[in-house]
Amino acid sequence: MTAADESVLITTERAGLPAERGWWRKAVVYQIYPRSFADSNGDGMGDIRGIIEHLDHIEKLGVDVVWLSPVYRSPQDDNGYDISDYQDIDPMFGTLADIDELIAGLHARGIRLVMDLVVNHTSDEHPWFEASRSSKDDPKRDWYVWRPARPGTVPGEPGAEPNNWGSIFSGPAWEYDERTGEYYLHLFTRKQPDLNWENPEVRRAVHDMMRWWVARGVDGFRMDVINFISKVDGLPDGEVHEGALYGNGFPFFAGGPRLDEFLAEINREVFGDDEEAARFLTVGEMPGSTVEQAQVYTDPARREVDMIFQFEHMEVDEGPGGKFDPRPIHLPELKRSLARWQDGLAENGWNSLYWSNHDRPRAVSRFGDDSDEHREVSAKALGTVLHLMRGTPYVYQGEELGMTNTVLERIEDFRDVESLNYYREATEVRGLAPADVLPALAYAGRDNSRTPVQWDDSPNAGFTTAEPWIAVTPNYRTVNAAAQVDDPTSVFSHYRELVRLRHELPIVADGTLTMHLLDDEQVFAYSRDLGDEGLLVLANLSGRPARVDATALGWTEGEVLLTNLPDAVPSLGADVTLRPWEAVVWRR
Ligand code: NOJ
Repeated sequence: MTAADESVLITTERAGLPAERGWWRKAVVYQIYPRSFADSNGDGMGDIRGIIEHLDHIEKLGVDVVWLSPVYRSPQDDNGYDISDYQDIDPMFGTLADIDELIAGLHARGIRLVMDLVVNHTSDEHPWFEASRSSKDDPKRDWYVWRPARPGTVPGEPGAEPNNWGSIFSGPAWEYDERTGEYYLHLFTRKQPDLNWENPEVRRAVHDMMRWWVARGVDGFRMDVINFISKVDGLPDGEVHEGALYGNGFPFFAGGPRLDEFLAEINREVFGDDEEAARFLTVGEMPGSTVEQAQVYTDPARREVDMIFQFEHMEVDEGPGGKFDPRPIHLPELKRSLARWQDGLAENGWNSLYWSNHDRPRAVSRFGDDSDEHREVSAKALGTVLHLMRGTPYVYQGEELGMTNTVLERIEDFRDVESLNYYREATEVRGLAPADVLPALAYAGRDNSRTPVQWDDSPNAGFTTAEPWIAVTPNYRTVNAAAQVDDPTSVFSHYRELVRLRHELPIVADGTLTMHLLDDEQVFAYSRDLGDEGLLVLANLSGRPARVDATALGWTEGEVLLTNLPDAVPSLGADVTLRPWEAVVWRR
């Protein structure tokens, strides 16, 4: 396809979708994790046609963008985040014709498609890596990060790795490859070798691939761990924290020296001039980024990315040993963190807003209360506080139904490589008993959010007619889409209303935000302002009644815009009493 053809496609394919700069401030994104969304062909795995069959659900929710987790050809070591062909669809998900149909179906409904872009690493089965590992003289050798054993050691023996970094998925970050007697770097599993972004050919290959998707009609990219692509020269050893088996390479691979340059280059090479680029959405997944870094990455003048996924509020229940060393959430700490991000990106740059995704437990189980008594109301309260903040909200599939964590009791219940590797290392290398490891995996494990979407109360929740690749969460008979979509009091309808408010009230997208009551251990409170207009959001994120003096926040009157409980709403005044998990939004 010539460049001219491509630009014709860009303009015709996306006709009718808003193109004004910053359109995504008013947008809500819906994330689809395809293997768990809907199975159309009865093999127990979700697929693209399954998504096409459920487009009405997405349209009804009212969202503007779908972010699709990877559907590319992949050995599925990390459920598709290990890609062996960026320009083909894995047969388990369908074909390129299916993705074209999905794009067309979404566009016809005014919804954009953002693809996952996983280019910090490929699969070890990608032809690039197969060439790279074939010989030290192969033209693609330098496309990956190869290093000899540490001087004075025997290659392949424990401790001979080029540096002491640990992999994010347990074990060392290096794999010895006998054929050429060197090691390759893999920040994730050994089947996910890191690309060498210092090599301009690698960058060009990524740009070409992205342009190919743009020409196919996709509207942007969610960029997987994109802040890991620039590593510090020399790859120095990391500090070994107390109790750790490996050194911490994070300071040497996150937010590295050439990251800004690489991001701006992608943007320029793939999206073209300012006007054309404004049609797309880019969101960089950036673990460990600070607000100060995010100010730079999301500064529109620099054209690096539109927004990032920051991780700070995801760490409020992590102990010193990380996510599998959980601690209780303290609401003031969570609010302070979100307040820092709201303030830091108030003037310039932009926030993404999320409670969950395919890497996190279910929001209602983690930040709310998934008991029968409070599940619905707490799911709505969480949605309310998130969606009315300043930023672009992301809804993870099933969150709009108040889907909960699943039951993970025995190691056989788990599917995720992160949990399985962690368990193996904890029991076999550290000598812990299974009973000491499993509760933390059940709490924080990624399989919680990867169980099938609960469509109805039929066997397997209507997800598949076969045995699903992971068990359905047992509560699907009561928690499912069929029971909610037409019920005006459901979690689904509440989310739908939140999406509508963002579309219709400029104050939600553009107003300033002031956080209140940061020390309060029960109430999440903030106000939004735009010209003469104001919103007050008060949510009791606890199972006990809570009291707020609204007059002290400058609010004595206002009309009620949204609530999450039936019956009487508290009136504004010095003594507003909120019932457990009650959330109320006032407007003036
Ligand atoms: C972040 C993705 O969200 C996660 O699912 C994946 O395992 C890692 N990056 C590695 O690609």
